[in-house]
Amino acid sequence: MFASGNGSNFEALAAAAATGSLGGSLEVVLCDQPGAGVLARAARLGIESLTPPTGRFRSKLEDESPWLAALRERRIDVVVLAGFMRRLHATLLTPFAGRMVNIHPSLLPAFPGLDAIGQAYRHGVRVTGCTVHLVEDAIDAGPIVAQAAVAVHEHDTLESLTARVHEAEHALFAPALRRYLTEPWHIDGRRLVFGAGEGLVLPEPEAAHG
Ligand code: GRF
Repeated sequence: MFASGNGSNFEALAAAAATGSLGGSLEVVLCDQPGAGVLARAARLGIESLTPPTGRFRSKLEDESPWLAALRERRIDVVVLAGFMRRLHATLLTPFAGRMVNIHPSLLPAFPGLDAIGQAYRHGVRVTGCTVHLVEDAIDAGPIVAQAAVAVHEHDTLESLTARVHEAEHALFAPALRRYLTEPWHIDGRRLVFGAGEGLVLPEPEAAHG
């Protein structure tokens, strides 16, 4: 897994992995923020974590190759992004095409980018939610694996809405990954369709994801 922050999604996936309901194992957390909460959570749960070098930039990795090397050394099949706040480029995206999954706290394609819950709240939508999708070379784009809707209540504050979207993420992510890892699927146009077809990518037995 790649993460930058609190790590609540990491913890939800670790809990699912521990009960065998993730469809794979959670091997390692790669984090770009040395003080991030996700690192303390990983230590508490006994899951390996690393902070490979990030370089001079804030919004991307100056050199993705140490990150790729860490994945290769551990034979990681699938990379899960959960709150990873840097844009990725070809060194990582190409070898992991179809094998990199992100969670985003809105019903994409609405409200991509930063502060998605705040964007949706301020826009005044009546329904928002969260999206699990494959990663492409564009921000919060890529074929959708699963979504969950969250109603916006009349008296919601940004805080109360944020709490419910995070709850929805924690409920959605593990079952979505399990399906992605264990059922056949293919890409039709920009749709991810479960079931056999041209361009089948996964599953592989005992896929590990980091
Ligand atoms: C989540 O809302 C996720 O959708 C977004 O960043 C947040 C990460 O939260 N991409 P956490 O670190 O998993 O608690």
